[in-house]
Parts: sequence; structure tokens; C-alpha cells
Amino acid sequence: MRIFVIGGSGLVGSNIVEQAESRGDTVRSTHLDTQTETTDIDLDKTDAGRTQSVITDFDPDVIVDTAAFHAVDDCETKRNRAWSVNAAGTRNVATAANEAGAHLIYLSTDYVFPGDPEEIPYTESDRIQPVNYYAETKYAGERAARIADEVTILRPSVIYGTASQNFVTWALGELEDSNELTIVNDQISSPTYAPDLAKVCLRLGEESQTGLYHSTGPESMSRYEFTVVLAEVCGYDTDLVKPITTEEFGQEAPRPTDSTLDSSTLYDAIDYEFRDPESAFEELR
Ligand SMILES: NC(=O)c1ccc[n+]([C@@H]2O[C@H](COP(=O)([O-])OP(=O)(O)OC[C@H]3O[C@@H](n4cnc5c(N)ncnc54)[C@H](OP(=O)(O)O)[C@@H]3O)[C@@H](O)[C@H]2O)c1
Repeated sequence: MRIFVIGGSGLVGSNIVEQAESRGDTVRSTHLDTQTETTDIDLDKTDAGRTQSVITDFDPDVIVDTAAFHAVDDCETKRNRAWSVNAAGTRNVATAANEAGAHLIYLSTDYVFPGDPEEIPYTESDRIQPVNYYAETKYAGERAARIADEVTILRPSVIYGTASQNFVTWALGELEDSNELTIVNDQISSPTYAPDLAKVCLRLGEESQTGLYHSTGPESMSRYEFTVVLAEVCGYDTDLVKPITTEEFGQEAPRPTDSTLDSSTLYDAIDYEFRDPESAFEELR
């Protein structure tokens, strides 16, 4: 399979590149600001012409678009940039996918749901109500991705791993330095292990499976509980992890209270179940 990964320097993208290369796929991947060992092309997907030309040159079977402006709080103030990357940039990729006759896999988010604890777990047919501006642009990205003739849209949640900077690498650094961490205990979701998400992208691409799938880990927990499990499994003092409410924490953008997704349609479609945080942390420690 010829696979083109947009955002190959990122957490999910670098896992896809690594797994695809070890399977023997022909891979090209892109970075924006951070060139890494896994990327060989610089690309800003807001540039329609360059997006078209790098994709046409490579002529992929599958494109995975992991690229996003996803600093959730910054999206509230840098609205033009958020829209141009997450919505308009995705439209550029979808248009280029059609020109190349490629299958597009687009990563969206659980934040497209309002996060009402009475509605969970959300299924693919549930009402969309983006919770903040980031989510609004990602939902616009979903609609843009649908321009592609062959498209798969995945909705993961709190993606973690070790391949590049993310919540878990930050928390491990703090725990290692014996610093206290205050973590919100009233934002619940189903954390998603990046290597599992990468595996699923490759499998869906290989099997040409299109459609909309929730694609999260199997366990629902608060950020605080997630961090306590991390500390426990990795042998750190769990008392360093302190709970705080969202109100006390004071984030710029609203967050869903509980955005637990039902990912059983995906699990059934590909006969694969994501790992829970405890087993994932066992693997990465
Ligand atoms: N992380 C989460 O918890 C989470 C949760 C739900 C959904 N998602 C979605 O999942 C996807 C992957 O997330 P991730 O954690 O792997 O993200 P990440 O680690 O931040 O990686 C993002 C990648 O996109 C690239 N990029 C950023 N802006 C770009 C642009 N304008 N044009 C081309 N490339 C650009 C970055 O390049 P440089 O690094 O070189 O600048 C990087 O390679 C995103 O679409 C995100 O919205 C993430």
C-alpha cells in the first residue's frame, strides 16, 4: 500500500509511519514546523496548490490526515487560523485525494458532542453540538473530508503515547521530578492509545473501509483517574496527583463534562479492540 501521512511528526502520524514502514508499505509523510526522522516533506495543508502537488507527485492509495490546529484554548482566540487549518485545509486534502483517486482517512474529535452525562455513551448517529470553537472547526473538517469520494472519519478522544509530546509525556516528566500535578476530575472521556489508533488507520486503509467511526479506548475515566493509573503503573507516588475541578482550573475554552464514545461499531468492523490505559501504560513504561 502507498500511504501518505499528513502530520507525520505528530503523535498519531509518527505511529502510523513507524507501523506502516515496518509492514513494508511505501510511506511518505509531512511535517509543518518540526522535521523529524519520520517526515520527509514540509507541508502546510492550508496551501491548496502545494497540498495538491505533493499528493499528486506521490500518487498514494491512502492518505491519513492527522494534521490539525488543536491547541483547544488558542482556537478560541486564533479563530482564523483554526478555521483555515481544520476546515479549509482539510477541504484541500479531500480535493487532492479525489484527484489522486486515494482513500482519505480523517481524524476528528469527541469534542463534537456537548458532553452531557445523561447522553453517554455517544454513538455515531447522536446529535452533534460542538462544545467549543476547536470542535466547530473539526466538525467543519468532517464535512470537508466528505468531499472525498472514498472517506473514513474517525473520532478519537484524549490520544496518548510516547512518540511525541502529549499529556502523558508531560505528566511522566512531572512525576519523575516529584512535582505535584493538579488534574481535572470532572472531565470524563475514553482515552485512546496512539499505537492502537495508528493500527486501525492502517487496517481501514488496507481494507478500504469507509464511513464514520468512533475510535476510542474501551474505558471511560476522568483525566485525574487516568493520571493516577499512569502514576501507579509507572511506579510513581500517586499522592503527587491532586484533583481539581474544571471551574477551579479555569480553561479558556469550554470542555465536555463527559464525552464517552461508544466505539463498538469500529471494534466489530475491524475485529480489534483498543487497549485500556493500564495495559497501554504497562507497554510504554
Ligand atoms: N491529541 C488528542 O488528544 C486528540 C484528541 C481527539 C482528536 N485529536 C485529533 O487527532 C489528530 C492527531 O492528533 P495528534 O495528537 O497526533 O496531533 P499532534 O501530535 O499535535 O500532531 C499534529 C501534526 O499536524 C501537523 N500540522 C499542524 N498544522 C498543520 C498544517 N497547517 N498543515 C500540515 N500539517 C500540520 C504538525 O506538524 P509539526 O509538528 O511539524 O508542526 C503535526 O505533525 C488531530 O487531527 C486532532 O485534532 C487529537
